[in-house]
Amino acid sequence: MFDIIYQLYHKGDFVRRIKTVNLKPDMVVARTIIDSDSRVLLSSGMCLNEQYISRLSELGIASIFIKDGLLDDEVLVNDIVSEQTRAETVKVIKTSFAKLEKSSNFNVQAVKNVVNNILDELLNNSNILVHLTDIRSFDDYTFGHSVNVCVLSIITALSLGYSEPKLKELGVGALLHDIGKTKIDKEILNKPGDLTPEEFNEIQRHTEYGFNILREYMEISLLSAHIAFQHHERWDGNGYPRGLGGLDIHQYARIVAVADVYDALLADRPYRPAYNVNQALNILTRMAGSYLDFDCVMSLKSNVAIYPIGSFVQLTTGDICIVIDVNKNNPARPKLRIVLDKNKKRIANPREIDLSRLKTIMITRPIHEDEVPFN
Ligand SMILES: [Fe+2]
Repeated sequence: MFDIIYQLYHKGDFVRRIKTVNLKPDMVVARTIIDSDSRVLLSSGMCLNEQYISRLSELGIASIFIKDGLLDDEVLVNDIVSEQTRAETVKVIKTSFAKLEKSSNFNVQAVKNVVNNILDELLNNSNILVHLTDIRSFDDYTFGHSVNVCVLSIITALSLGYSEPKLKELGVGALLHDIGKTKIDKEILNKPGDLTPEEFNEIQRHTEYGFNILREYMEISLLSAHIAFQHHERWDGNGYPRGLGGLDIHQYARIVAVADVYDALLADRPYRPAYNVNQALNILTRMAGSYLDFDCVMSLKSNVAIYPIGSFVQLTTGDICIVIDVNKNNPARPKLRIVLDKNKKRIANPREIDLSRLKTIMITRPIHEDEVPFN
């Protein structure tokens, strides 16, 4: 069953991420879209029509991968964690939240199992960089975000030399870091306008609520529970709930704070569009040592592809390229395929270059997808 649902990539296809607002009928879906109940919304290979496009925007799906006919080639956008594991994790976290909202117990073993699956995949993929190319709807922001925070936290901790038991403890706490939100009135949580000071206070209390939920479970370590408690504390002491600073904040919570901020920057939010990876990493760097723990920021950064596969960049020559591979030892100088000339005209026979070997050519800027005409 899963083999069919999660068969996402077709070798030889050129996939490209397009915002839902820019989708047109007859574009072909390149990557199967699954909702958090593991239902297929659109299958790879399907042709879009007006109805599908409006359904996508109704569901709040910000962007999807489509095939781009002219550049039929092998650019595979593989994420560090499989789509299957990601979808299963979203489902487990969604179910856990729903149980807690009804004041019943959630299945701790199911949470531990999905964290183990994520960890196994990360240990097998330890030499590849994070591309975070997932697609999520606004409705599911909390769940998709929880999974990303878990993945990013584990990767960061791997670079810090964590042992497997500690990685599991961290993973569970990272996945459940916002579980206290289940105790907050939905009207406050989803309020579109400005919050009153009382409402703001109440939202901040998700940290204490989360800690109190998790410490009730014997099977969950108290240190995992402290991640829920401390993930909004700040290195400079200006966080909440207790205003702890520096090394008084447990390192698990310092790692999760970095992952939490980074993933939030990469998401389209109702009040602002997503930052690109380069912008998000720059913002994170500015926060290192003040808002966030410097070492944790550096460890996360060392694992992130500055120029994710499938994104576009412009070179000092004016040419526009698509990133086709990254050099982990030199992430700022990826492998590229030149696809547009400086007048943004498609090149008939695209040439590939490896920036780690061509020292004289530089990337001037990332190019937004809207700037690259669709064929
Ligand atoms: Fe939070």
